[in-house]
Amino acid sequence: MWEGRAPGKVILFGEHAVVYGRPAIAVPVRGVEARVTVRPGERGSGIWLECCDLPALAPGEGTCRYPVREAPAGDPLRVAVLLGLTYLGIAPSQEPDLVLTISSTIPIARGLGSGAAVATALLRALATYFNQPLSAEETSRLVYEVEKLFHGTPSGIDNTVIAYQQPVYFVPGEPVELLQVGVPFHLVIADTGIASVTRQVVGTVRQRWQAERARYEYLFDTIAALVRAAREAIVRGEWRALGPLMNENQTLLNEMGVSSPELDRLLKVARSAGALGAKLSGAGRGGFMIALVAEEDIAPVTEALERAGAAQVLSTCVMAASDD
Ligand code: MEV
Repeated sequence: MWEGRAPGKVILFGEHAVVYGRPAIAVPVRGVEARVTVRPGERGSGIWLECCDLPALAPGEGTCRYPVREAPAGDPLRVAVLLGLTYLGIAPSQEPDLVLTISSTIPIARGLGSGAAVATALLRALATYFNQPLSAEETSRLVYEVEKLFHGTPSGIDNTVIAYQQPVYFVPGEPVELLQVGVPFHLVIADTGIASVTRQVVGTVRQRWQAERARYEYLFDTIAALVRAAREAIVRGEWRALGPLMNENQTLLNEMGVSSPELDRLLKVARSAGALGAKLSGAGRGGFMIALVAEEDIAPVTEALERAGAAQVLSTCVMAASDD
């Protein structure tokens, strides 16, 4: 059995503004992951996909086991497989006989990067099966192609942080900067239970930006300044300084109209329970919120969020890859 894995992610600072060329910071969430296993299939079967643990990924109801060659052209799993085979130098006429089984503990449509993580795990599984190296840079580039199909105008931050599996300071079009984390710090991450379709929320922000360009450019620039300040604080190990910066980023996201009453309520609960700062993460309107907490406050903040009705509460320690 061959396999590929990939973590989830959260955006720490700068979502939405990053779509307009500003910097953003994202970190992997290792407590959840996508996993794809490969086993040989029947002779002449071609590649089959199995995603019965994740029916939402199937191209139709009752079709969680299907041959890639019969999947609709826009099926993300099919697209990832075809990109992977091309990268690995396998011609369509030489389609191997394989079964790829996809599973994931990353909640779907909640801003934790489930789509990018599944595509990453799938490409890694294929590369492992064919015993070929697949660098983080190549993985990120291929996953970005998949993201573009579903996202419209992805900034590229999701595929980058998931492929590198390290905290990243990301500026579209610039080489990725792997963040040095001076002192590891903790985040509590809570699900509003409400689906957030990134493509839709990004589309709404685009309409507003077109209607009120000067105002939105100003908001994006203000967010960019916060992101730069956050980068300095992370590198210097001054993680407590991130709390007020998260709150300020949230105020600006609120002004952009991407928060929601459910997010606002969980943010308030987290802050009252001891979080040093909190904000939505990802596209917003639903999905997850993140809270910065001192280690001793992980339990009380988690309990408060659970009592307040969060659908799921996770925590993660943000550290440089070398601290793993
Ligand atoms: C999605 O995780 C973050 C957004 O900024 C979109 C993007 O960067 O492509 C909302």
